[in-house]
Amino acid sequence: MDKSTKSIKNMFLNFFKKENHKVLDSSSIIPTNDSSLLFTNAGMNQFKDIYLDIEKPIYEKVCTSQYCLRIGGKHNDLDTVGFTNRHHTLFEMLGNFSFGAYFKYEAIMLAWKLLTSESWFNIQKAKLLVTVYYLDREAYDIWTKDIGMPKEKVILVGDKNKKEPYVSDNFWCMGEVGPCGPCSEIFYDYGKHLFGYLPGDEKGCGYRYVEVWNLVFMQYNRQYNNLMTPLAKPSVDTGMGLERISAVLQNVDSTFKTDIFSKTIAIVKKELNINYLNDYLYVIADHIRTCFYIIKNGIYPSNEGRGYVLRRVIRRMIRHLNLLGIEKACIYRLIYELKDVYIDYIEEKAINIKHIETIILYEEARFYNTIKKGLEVLLNKINKKEVKEELDGKTAFFLYDTYGLPIDFIVEICNEKDIKIDIDSFIKPMELQKSLSRKDSLISPSEKAREELDIKATSIFVGYNKLEYIAFIKELLFNNNKVNTIYEGQYGVLVLNKTSFYPETGGQVGDIGEIKTIKGLFKVTNTKNYNKAILHFGRVMYGFFRLKEAVIINVDAEYRKAIKVNHSAVHILNKVLCSYIKKKLIQKGSYITANHIRFDFICGKGKLLNNEEAKIIEEEVNEQIINNMLIVTKLLSFADVKENIKDNIIFIQREYEAIVRIVNIFGLSIELCKGTHTNRTGDIGLLSIASQYSIAKNIIRIEAVTGRASIAFVFSNKAILKKLKEVTNSNEYKLCDHLTHIKAEYNKLEREVKYIRNTHLAFYIESLIKELKAYNDNIIIKTIGSFYSSFLYLIAKCLIDNLRAKVIILNTKHGNNVRFIIGITEDLLCYIKAKDIIDYFIVNLKGKGGGSLKLVQGVGEFILFKKEIEAISNLILNNIR
Ligand code: SER
Repeated sequence: MDKSTKSIKNMFLNFFKKENHKVLDSSSIIPTNDSSLLFTNAGMNQFKDIYLDIEKPIYEKVCTSQYCLRIGGKHNDLDTVGFTNRHHTLFEMLGNFSFGAYFKYEAIMLAWKLLTSESWFNIQKAKLLVTVYYLDREAYDIWTKDIGMPKEKVILVGDKNKKEPYVSDNFWCMGEVGPCGPCSEIFYDYGKHLFGYLPGDEKGCGYRYVEVWNLVFMQYNRQYNNLMTPLAKPSVDTGMGLERISAVLQNVDSTFKTDIFSKTIAIVKKELNINYLNDYLYVIADHIRTCFYIIKNGIYPSNEGRGYVLRRVIRRMIRHLNLLGIEKACIYRLIYELKDVYIDYIEEKAINIKHIETIILYEEARFYNTIKKGLEVLLNKINKKEVKEELDGKTAFFLYDTYGLPIDFIVEICNEKDIKIDIDSFIKPMELQKSLSRKDSLISPSEKAREELDIKATSIFVGYNKLEYIAFIKELLFNNNKVNTIYEGQYGVLVLNKTSFYPETGGQVGDIGEIKTIKGLFKVTNTKNYNKAILHFGRVMYGFFRLKEAVIINVDAEYRKAIKVNHSAVHILNKVLCSYIKKKLIQKGSYITANHIRFDFICGKGKLLNNEEAKIIEEEVNEQIINNMLIVTKLLSFADVKENIKDNIIFIQREYEAIVRIVNIFGLSIELCKGTHTNRTGDIGLLSIASQYSIAKNIIRIEAVTGRASIAFVFSNKAILKKLKEVTNSNEYKLCDHLTHIKAEYNKLEREVKYIRNTHLAFYIESLIKELKAYNDNIIIKTIGSFYSSFLYLIAKCLIDNLRAKVIILNTKHGNNVRFIIGITEDLLCYIKAKDIIDYFIVNLKGKGGGSLKLVQGVGEFILFKKEIEAISNLILNNIR
């Protein structure tokens, strides 16, 4: 058996595949279905809604290898990492899951087979022990009787204290709330030579016993008030740490000695010139891998949420490097050296290593440029005895605000030196500052505000071919005011002397990307023209930016590529439409983004293309795409264009500059255009018209997608078609006929139902009139059942036309609301008007409504209606008596 971590993972998945489980991918480390979690912390997270019966499973038995992070939240191992033989901030959890398909017996049997069978992991049975939740007799019996484990190796584990049921190592909960249940943990015994207490012992199992697999029998949903409600289907969720099982199978007594980590540690030692081994190297080896994954998933270090967790991990790494005597930025270099180990393992080629390196470098630079100074200032104050027994909040805030010294650092150092810290008086100014910077962020410069900007700078666009460039900051704006510096977290505008960022023009949206210096990172979220300047809108993710500073420009290449392709697609669409329609087509504008294109035009009377025409247009555009024609751009004098190629060009502006740019799709079209274009039509891949509608008199809009989006569109339509076929039990050839038939049948039934309903209604009203005529009361309050609720008005009208001396209040309940109608017979109108009553209702039922003098209708809160009905009856009676 190949015992590399990668092979062990595959073996696990293969085993369960053979046992009829569907192998699914790891979900993202950023949970998409659960706002209570900062990071994915278990294999079961992606299936939470299935356990809770909110979502139906596609497969009842699945298995995964899930990337998990246990830093922050309920499961937090950050401070333990490096100092045990088995904890990691990021790890992979191998798991098999049953959504009602099997429960305890099968789960235990499968686990035992994989672990001990000679054809699989082949671990000696004698080396394994298990723990069981003390109330779970069923699991205990399976382990002792069906598996035949000696009783002394099946350890019952209770709750941690009597007051809090279910708080136990053997009762697994995802978080404060969510699916949960008793669990059986399987431990591996490394042997007597290592120290450790038996699993379940409060003193901890040391290095000797390591939990390798947790089998959770999901039975309940835990809610905020600690209420346990049973799940619809008892299910299974298991989790085996890949790093731990690899250590066992590779016959090493620590996860840090497995293949991946020993390679990592060897590289780190070589790069940092360290020739001994200690725990700090473990911390670094673990944290660097974690940072790599977190940044790969698009997170930046910041002062809140996931970004803050990332920042803490980087800082913890820096501190441990400092403890090893290394006091300069070096982690970013390690990322580069380790990239092959990671990429080979995760088999993902499209990782932007440069990006990861840069982020880490910024964070390290930030630490050494600012935080370190803050540390020195604090230590100085302590050494000079300016700070003795207590550090006051004001000084702590000063260190935080001026040097960016994080509060956890301040607390840690104060703890080391036995100095108390007045946290409360620190928190207040910090909260104030946070609320101010939140306000700043709302005032990001808007379109409207641009009208009033005082910007004189000129920027030159140099980005047709160069996406990276070095330029200088000419203007900086914050809150629409010129400033000298903008700081971390602030939204603002950068104006450069030259830029590769394309500003929004001619229907093409502005570029996005990054502008960097060694001290800062500015994320550009949009680019626009303003007079002669090009404005980069965005936010400082790190550090700060100063006027006149040199910056490195990095336009998001993928985004630009998608826009280029879409812009060329618009030219082809334009040309094909012109040729097809023959009548004069007037282009009324286009909108080109990375995701889709919009093309507006007038042709004839503004009739939409029929299905056949749209199909021909789409086919012709795609024909031109397949032809893979060259696209070239050229600068020419306008006079030249007018003289030599004017017949091929439509001039849409009144005036043009002396030098114009032409975009020539060979053999197809020539247009005057400043936009960015791809090199060949084939790059567009596939164009799909997604919709077509009119937006104003005679103006038609076509919306289309290209490339990957277009393929996704086609696949999604294919999936819809498949669903339709299944639902209607038909095939693609018969589907249309089938649906037409269903529609005709539906119309017929609808007519019949209407007829029956109307007849029924007539009877109902007639009997109601008879019944009410017999009433002596002047006020009739009647609740109408849902069957007739849509006819409330009609019923009320018939009643007031046929009755005498009555005020009729009909009502029907909709959820928490009531819909009501008030009718007054003609003879009472001299005493009271329906409008007077509705005014009362509007005020007292938090409702709304209106109508005529005789009939009004409205809605309000049902509970208030019930409460007010007596008061309103009295009011009416007082008026009519
Ligand atoms: N959810 C359990 C755990 O995380 C088993 O997968 O340990």
